[in-house]
Amino acid sequence: MANDSYDLVIIGAGPAGYVAAIRAAQLGLKVAVVEKNPTLGGTCLNVGCIPSKALLQSSHLFEETGHDLAAHGIVVGAPTLDFTQMMKRKSEVVGATTKGIEFLFKKNKIAWLQGAGRIEAAGKVSVLGPDGAVKDTVAAKNILIAAGSEVTPLPGVVIDEKKIVSSTGALEFGEVPRRLVVIGAGIIGLELGSVWRRLGSDVTVVEFLDRICPSIDDEIAKFFQRSLAKQGLKFKLGSKVTKADASGAGVVLTVEPAKGGAAETLEADRVLVAIGRRPHVAGLGLDKAGIKLTEHGRIAVDAHFQTSVPGIYAIGDVIDGPMLAHKASEDGIACVETIAGQKGHVNWDLVPSVVYTQPEVAWVGKTEEQLKAAGVAYKIGKYPFTADPRSRANAATEGFVKVLADKATDRVLGVHILGAEAGTLIGEAALAMEFAASAEDIGRICHAHPTVNEALKEAALAAWEKPIHL
Ligand code: FAD
Ligand code: NAI
Repeated sequence: MANDSYDLVIIGAGPAGYVAAIRAAQLGLKVAVVEKNPTLGGTCLNVGCIPSKALLQSSHLFEETGHDLAAHGIVVGAPTLDFTQMMKRKSEVVGATTKGIEFLFKKNKIAWLQGAGRIEAAGKVSVLGPDGAVKDTVAAKNILIAAGSEVTPLPGVVIDEKKIVSSTGALEFGEVPRRLVVIGAGIIGLELGSVWRRLGSDVTVVEFLDRICPSIDDEIAKFFQRSLAKQGLKFKLGSKVTKADASGAGVVLTVEPAKGGAAETLEADRVLVAIGRRPHVAGLGLDKAGIKLTEHGRIAVDAHFQTSVPGIYAIGDVIDGPMLAHKASEDGIACVETIAGQKGHVNWDLVPSVVYTQPEVAWVGKTEEQLKAAGVAYKIGKYPFTADPRSRANAATEGFVKVLADKATDRVLGVHILGAEAGTLIGEAALAMEFAASAEDIGRICHAHPTVNEALKEAALAAWEKPIHL
């Protein structure tokens, strides 16, 4: 609606923008969200967290049914894959989730301005149609940029979303590829590599570094790689892809050692490029408005998420910090609470991370390598799931919990978990660490028996003094 005016106009309806909009509306602000996609929810709900977790769950069930039920005395024939149904279910999960956000917008009286948002100046946002023409201009007391991120391209490897795909294409394959090469052993590469390996692909992961998932604690990453290799994922570490030739039926990749040396070729039917994501800043009118970027190309903000221009804020993947949905949402809540006169804050040091493979990997706080680099004296408590009775009952004993605590004060500095339910367990660790718990604190909390959480208690006891059951 031309010339409408709002207390807050948000550009982007991902987990950063849509959550900020709901919280701002709850606080009494008149809110509009400009979103160019035909559905709300951003990367996470449409082509990220939600569809990938739907396929991870379906492919896990397929794998479990085929391999893991016999140990329980359940005998079934080899399962067959109804691929169309699996992909249909994934789309239905996404549809229900994005529709849910539309419902929440209506409930909270948030206006959805459909189109691409461009900042004309502080206090003024234009909405552009698909042809690039301005179809609306609105006044905004405050502007919040929540434009998210996009795939980092790899020179020499052109993504066509058919044979050479980003994560978006890898969630939409029309059939199970026979040979899939994944470039990048990060979170996307390992999650989606696992999905397609479980469904029958021969998966090779090419990684530049000599280790997988650089953000994971080194010891955990080594166990994790061994576990994935046992499942059938192949790794080519310390290697870089320099060229992709997709002119034939498949793709021929040229791969070189990262440190230099003789090139070799690798053939694939599909290639997934997953070497990271970069902030989405194009087309937002940042230059014109005078909004500054960091040296890494993200939008620079102060402690209250305000950009270099007063009245214009930014949150989520487009600013610093981990590119995670829950971090983006917390940014949004803290930012609009500050705009509404309250005091919002997010502790980026305690944002939990989870890799939803099987086993899962989850962590919060510092890794051993980070503590060493910072010169912090620490102690370690570890507890294997083989020693945990519930994990034995569940036939899920792979992995361990590792608690890092300050040597002098016993304060927990990092928790790292490899295990079937790591993603659920890490919530308890994050909660404890937000309240500055010591290892002894966690170890003395009465945990229900038998629950997998007892492994966290025991690892905390191991960091403090001694575990009971080891
Ligand atoms: P986005 O979700 O990217 O949303 C930005 C929105 O802004 C988009 O809808 C875009 O269309 C819109 N937009 C951009 N520019 C404009 C404009 N000019 N005008 C109007 N609209 C605009 N994170 C997790 O925490 N857990 C996971 O399990 C997880 N899985 C993932 C799996 C995959 C395959 C991928 C790719 C990502 C995953 N992530 C996960 C990361 C997560 O999706 C992002 O961290 C999160 O979506 C960031 O939220 P955001 O709101 O900042 O940005
Ligand atoms: P990533 O940063 O997790 O991993 C990228 C990997 O690619 C790294 O290991 C890096 O060393 C490697 N790499 C970089 N350049 C390379 C090259 N030229 N050749 C070979 N390897 C190269 O990035 P990814 O997996 O693309 O994911 C992007 C982000 O999306 C994640 O960092 C995370 O923030 C988010 N995400 C989160 C998920 C979750 O929370 N479960 C799931 C999926 C994505």
